[in-house]
Order: sequence, then C-alpha cells, then structure tokens
Amino acid sequence: MRRTKTLSALVLLVSLFLIFFYATLHLETAYSLRAGPEDLLRDTSLQVHDSDGKAQSSKQERFTIPLPDVLNVSVSDGLKQAIPQNGAYWNRLLYSALRNLDKGGNPFGNESDWSLCRQKNQEHLQTNVHDFTSYPVLLQDFLKGMNCRSPPVLLNQPNKCISGEGKGDNRPFLLFAIKSTPGNFEQRQAVRETWGREGVYQSGLRVHTLFLLGSSPLDDPDLSSLLSFEARHFGDLLQWDFHESLLNLTLKMNMLLQWTVKYCPTASFVFSGDDDVFVNTPALLRYLQSLEPSKASQLYAGQVISRASPLRVPKNKYYIPLSFYDGPYPAYAGGGGFVLSGALLQRLYSISRVIPFYPIDDVYAGMCFKALGVSPEANAGFQTFDINEQYRENLCVNKNLILIHRRSPQQMKKLWKGIHSLLLTC
Ligand SMILES: *[C@@H]1O[C@H](CO)[C@@H](O)[C@H](O)[C@H]1NC(C)=O
Ligand SMILES: *[C@@H]1O[C@H](CO)[C@@H](O)[C@H](O)[C@H]1NC(C)=O
Repeated sequence: MRRTKTLSALVLLVSLFLIFFYATLHLETAYSLRAGPEDLLRDTSLQVHDSDGKAQSSKQERFTIPLPDVLNVSVSDGLKQAIPQNGAYWNRLLYSALRNLDKGGNPFGNESDWSLCRQKNQEHLQTNVHDFTSYPVLLQDFLKGMNCRSPPVLLNQPNKCISGEGKGDNRPFLLFAIKSTPGNFEQRQAVRETWGREGVYQSGLRVHTLFLLGSSPLDDPDLSSLLSFEARHFGDLLQWDFHESLLNLTLKMNMLLQWTVKYCPTASFVFSGDDDVFVNTPALLRYLQSLEPSKASQLYAGQVISRASPLRVPKNKYYIPLSFYDGPYPAYAGGGGFVLSGALLQRLYSISRVIPFYPIDDVYAGMCFKALGVSPEANAGFQTFDINEQYRENLCVNKNLILIHRRSPQQMKKLWKGIHSLLLTC
C-alpha cells in the first residue's frame, strides 16, 4: 500500500514537472513570435520609461527616417495649366520651386532641422504675406511650419512588410494606412476586428494595416504608455512627434509616403483613409484585382471632387485667404479614403519634395498627382459624404459599396457582420 502511494506521488511529480517544462517552452516560442514589434520599439524613443511611466524621450537621441534617394522628377505641364501664376503666396512658392527645378538646382529644398525650421520661417512670412496677421491662428501656425518635414519618429514598424513570422514572402497586396489619433483606441479596435483585419483574403491576397498617429497636445493626458503597449501588442502603430490637427494632416500624409518608400515599397496598393470610415474590404480587393495592368500601375481612385475652389468664408475650417492661394483646385479624391498604386509611391514622394505643403491634405495629394500627370479615377463605390439616409441600414446597398463615411465602431461591427451573413440574399 505504501509503495503504491509513493509511486503515484512520483508519477504526479514527474507529470507536474513535464507540464511546467512544456509551459515554459510555449512561453518562449510565444515570446519569440512577438519579438518583431518589440525589437523595433527598442529603436524608438518611447521605449524608455521612468517610474511614472512617462516617456523619457528627451534623454535619448530620437531618430528620424533617413530620406531615401530621390529620383529625378519632372512636373507635368498639366499642373502649370491648372494652377495660375500670380501674386498669392502659395502660387509664388510653387513657381519658385518649379524654376529651381528647371535650373537643375536642389529641387527638394533644404531638409530643415525640425527644431529650428519654425523660427526661421517666421521672419520670412511677415515680409512676404502682407496680411499674415489677419489669418486664422491655426493657419498662421500651419504657415510657420510649412517647411518642417522631418518630425521625430516615436513608434515605428520597420518589419511590417518584410519578415512574415518565418512564412517567407510578406509583401502586401494592399496596405491600409489609416489616419487615427492617439485617443481613438475604440475606433482602431473596431477596424482591426472588421475591415482592417490583417491576413490573407480571397485568391491569396495579403492585407496589412497601419494606423498613423501624431502626438497629443501637452495639456492632454499622457497616453504614451498605453500606445507603446498597443504598438507592441498589435504591431500596427506608426507615430510621429507632431501635434494632431486638421492642418497637420498634409504632414501626416507626407510621412506615410516617406515611410512606404522606405519600408513598404513592394505593396501593390496603398489605401489612405480615416479611422471612422467603413471599408468593404472584399469589394475593394475585387475592384483592385479587376484592373488592367496599365491602370493598376497608375491608380489614384476614390470619390473624385472636380472643379472645387478654395472656401473664402473665414469661419469655415477649410478657409483659405485669397492672398494665400488664388486659383481652382485640381481634381482630387476625397481624403476619407482613396487608393493608389504602390508603383507610384517613389515618384509621388519625390514630387512632394517640390510641391509646397498645402493646408488641406486631400487637395495637396491631388496637386501632387496632377504634377505627376496622373488623373484621379472616379469610383462610385467610394462614398466619402455618406449615402442617402434611407439606404444606410440596407445591407444589400452596403454590400455593393467600397467605402462609406462615417460609421461608429458599433456600426462598423454590425455592418461587417451583416454583409458577411450567409442569410443575406440580394
Ligand atoms: C538652403 O539653405 C542655404 C543656407 O541656409 C541657402 O543659402 C539656400 O538658398 C537654401 N537652398 C534652398 C533650395 O532653399
Ligand atoms: C503641427 O505640429 C507642430 C509640431 O508639433 C505644431 O507645432 C503645430 O502647431 C501643428 N500645426 C497645427 C496647424 O496645428
């Protein structure tokens, strides 16, 4: 009797040991799978935290993404025909940049030091824009930072498009680059659980997702620890150290171009859009797959806004004074969501070094595409101003669209489930 007891105790001990050993092994593999995003966080300044969990970024040297070699670019005659040469400040800046380019001078301007570029510009503005002080404060702020194009990187994902957890080729067919803001945790999670889910879709098409963030104003709660956790956990956040604001979205778009040229040049298509839109990912993939090769390599598609002009009502958030810009806007795709060919990224980024920043990001994108000689492709499936109220809940209508603005996280979940329901007969 005693012998059996000892024996069973021994068996129990051995099994406990085996279970423990196995569990440790498992933990280790899980850890090494997660090592990707962690490694890259080590590069960034957010990695070091003091005991309060506040980032000690000032003590560390921050890195900025080095500029990739820029290709020779030329600006289409179409842009010169679309944008008049006159006395408005932006128009003058454009034509002076074009003259520089023609002279073979440094077309890309000086890569101003991020910490100094605002001060330098201040004096220049006072002398060159006669009514500068009458501009809305935010627009004045935009103008001061117009030449500042190298904000420090806070969160990066350099391996996003390269290594695929040992599965080899990880080139995305489609990269979702979603404009978000630090506090929009719920929106991001809804996107991850619905249309932005990463993985392999129909016909083996690989989809990757990134959220693009600026930084919160100093008076806001410090979200940096939460964000660095989120970045480690999901591996899908890019963050730069510039303040989130409507007029900084052009800078955000430029950072996306810079990032993709360096870290994801092989993506077939890039989607740029907001975190409060709903995308019917299978429909978008079907559309992209259906394109002729000549179109697929020159794509700039979305809801096209043609014949738009600057709004001259000072209270409007898109107000543009006549002394700043004088002329119509080239046709552009609404910034709520549009797609472009990966093949255009390098040229687009290069041309953006020539075209001065414009305070409205989607108008600016339109100008850059115009400079490349690429016209926007209208697609009725992109509804950046939403659809008629009576159809918003209609799953059959939604199923045939590609993008709808705007939907709450809860609506996204409901819609995603609805259009995927097997019971849906349209
Ligand atoms: C670059 O900066 C230098 C010195 O600050 C200046 O002389 C030069 O004109 C600038 N070049 C361009 C293209 O802005
Ligand atoms: C853009 O970001 C910079 C850097 O954080 C900030 O100084 C500036 O105020 C922001 N611009 C606008 C228009 O908010």
